[in-house]
Amino acid sequence: MKVPCRIVAEILELLKSEVKPGVTTLVLDEFAERHAAKRGAKPAFKGYNGYPYALCCSLNDQVVHGMPNGRELIEGDILSLDFGVIRDGFYGDAALTLPVGPVSKAAERLIRVTEESLYVAIDAAQPTNRLFDISHAVQSYVEARGFSVVRDFVGHGIGKSLHESPQIPNFGPPGRGVRLKPGMVLAIEPMINEKGPEVKVLADGWTAVTCDKGLSAHFEHTVAITEHGPEILTIQ
Ligand code: MF3
Ligand code: CO
Repeated sequence: MKVPCRIVAEILELLKSEVKPGVTTLVLDEFAERHAAKRGAKPAFKGYNGYPYALCCSLNDQVVHGMPNGRELIEGDILSLDFGVIRDGFYGDAALTLPVGPVSKAAERLIRVTEESLYVAIDAAQPTNRLFDISHAVQSYVEARGFSVVRDFVGHGIGKSLHESPQIPNFGPPGRGVRLKPGMVLAIEPMINEKGPEVKVLADGWTAVTCDKGLSAHFEHTVAITEHGPEILTIQ
């Protein structure tokens, strides 16, 4: 799984330099697909339950599953990029939120806290801990800083399928759920809202947005549980 995960990480890293005012998310989508092909990988999301693109591009109040389109990015936007590939039968999945040029202090802080909550969650992914220790780590970190946790979407196991058990909520009581064991691989993905936690899916059947139009951020890593602790696979 290190192979597809490294490919995902490399392509997200390349995408970081492509995200700037004037660029459309369709261009980013083509970029991601082309770079996956170069590495012998296929985009994991394209065709998944009929999703038509390689990348999810969720802008501002969009939470997840935003579809690439012809709208140009402008200074002040925040853009979540979610990307996965399959190579040699195994999946990798990761996401990050980027500022487009300078953004508001509130947007900056939301992005920072969401990324930090991912690392706090990964720290909780220790063998001997339980699944909801991860969930609780995200929830307590984020809510203590005044933000809210999206309930309607969750992280997941990953391997020979994109979505495997267990589901990994970003909220819940510590000390509950299955015990984490070396060999498990988890896609941990906090989705965090600036204001309320409520989200709805638009008429396109995919794009999830905040109900109150507040901003939303999303970070994800594919993480292996080893006997020595969590190992992030979606890094270069
Ligand atoms: N990273 C997301 C997930 O883990 C992306 C899924 S988009 C879809 O579920 F199109 F594949 F559904
Ligand atoms: Co995922």
